[in-house]
Amino acid sequence: MDYWSKLEAEYRERTPTSESIHDETSDHIPAGVASTSRRFDPYPFYIDHSDGVHLEDVDGNRYLDYDMNNGAGLCGHTHPDIADALHDQIDKGTLYTMPHELLAEAAEELKKRWNALQKVRFTNSGTEATMHAIRMARAYSGRDKVLKIEGAYHGAHDYVLVSGTPPVSKAGHPKRPRKVKDGHGVPDAVLDTVEVAPFNDLEATEEILWEHRDEIGALLVEPVMLNKSVTPPQENYLEGLRKLCDEYGVVLIFDEVKTGVKVAPGGAAELYGVEPDMVTMAKSIGGETSVGAFGGTHEIMDQISDDYAWHYGTYNGNPFVLRALVTALRDVLTEDAYDHVNRLGNRLKAGYEDVMADAGIKGQVTHVNSQGIIQFTDANITDYREFVANVDDDFHTLFWFGMVNQGIIPHPYGARQQWTISVQHTEEHIDETIEAFRNIAPRLAEAQNS
Ligand SMILES: Cc1ncc(COP(=O)(O)O)c(C=O)c1O
Repeated sequence: MDYWSKLEAEYRERTPTSESIHDETSDHIPAGVASTSRRFDPYPFYIDHSDGVHLEDVDGNRYLDYDMNNGAGLCGHTHPDIADALHDQIDKGTLYTMPHELLAEAAEELKKRWNALQKVRFTNSGTEATMHAIRMARAYSGRDKVLKIEGAYHGAHDYVLVSGTPPVSKAGHPKRPRKVKDGHGVPDAVLDTVEVAPFNDLEATEEILWEHRDEIGALLVEPVMLNKSVTPPQENYLEGLRKLCDEYGVVLIFDEVKTGVKVAPGGAAELYGVEPDMVTMAKSIGGETSVGAFGGTHEIMDQISDDYAWHYGTYNGNPFVLRALVTALRDVLTEDAYDHVNRLGNRLKAGYEDVMADAGIKGQVTHVNSQGIIQFTDANITDYREFVANVDDDFHTLFWFGMVNQGIIPHPYGARQQWTISVQHTEEHIDETIEAFRNIAPRLAEAQNS
């Protein structure tokens, strides 16, 4: 039996209840999941409950979890401090659309972490955060076009669903990527509002900025590309973008939905020492509740106070999510917590690399503090095209199911993702993970070399 067939048979044997729930749910919900990124073959497993760093599925299998809600779980699952705060908040009310004191408290917590934030507004997701930030930047610059990076994902609204994962056959020259819509239903007209540049390429970026100098008003970048495994910025890249945006009068937006509070307390802006004009945030800022935010300079954000540019939303900044946010940022994600997750990140990287070396598996770990992944290639991946050329999704699937069948979710499904180490993981959890990897390493080596 080939390795995939063996893994699939084991998986099906462990998860029969998930399979029948998936069949039933698919009658009501497209693909049986609430976000398409959660779908995979043969079917996903369905969760019964989570606690600490574990998920338990409907068949009673327990998993040590590094998916951590697609990166929204730096605090771990249902952190006790956050749970206490939320129980208290339920007694006080979960939704009042009238303003309340948590607004300023939550904004202050974010402002302590990002110098670029002079004012912020809250949203319910990262998608809304990038959508509103783009509107503010357009209003401020008076220009409609946004320059985005090929291969980058910034949420599910039309303005950013361009060249997220374009087929290379349609994507044109790597230095001047052609704009490709991500799926049908995105209007053709959206292509007139976007330009696309390669990541880590200042020269190409400048050419595009020059060519569209009176049109591009915002540059939207995920400073470490965490939707293409872990692709860090090369030296001077972010500084270079800062300089170019100043030169061309373009609003620089760091999309820190994934990097924010995870690669450093103040996100990539702090880690790399570069100040954007605007920041978008979500995921781990919310301590497992659905909250996003966007913010920037007074001049940009006061367009909202002046009713010049609009930002509305019934659920924005509700007390339930802001209570979780304040507790997460003030009480849970302390300096010690960052030392802890960063130390564990190094331990996991070293452990995975040792096993690969011992077993003769070609690969490397790329990681930035709490975020990392094994790339089963020797290539140094610096942008989308290199990612596509060098990352073998099928092989990665063997690794993923090999780990899952042993009760470890190494990261969200797919080679484009990465693990999140939470404050509730321990050294023992890391060692358990490495042991599990050691168990499957010989079969992986065999599969890679066959
Ligand atoms: C960089 C980035 N921006 C925006 C989003 C959208 O966030 P949400 O899923 O909360 O809408 C994501 C989601 O994965 C993301 O990774």
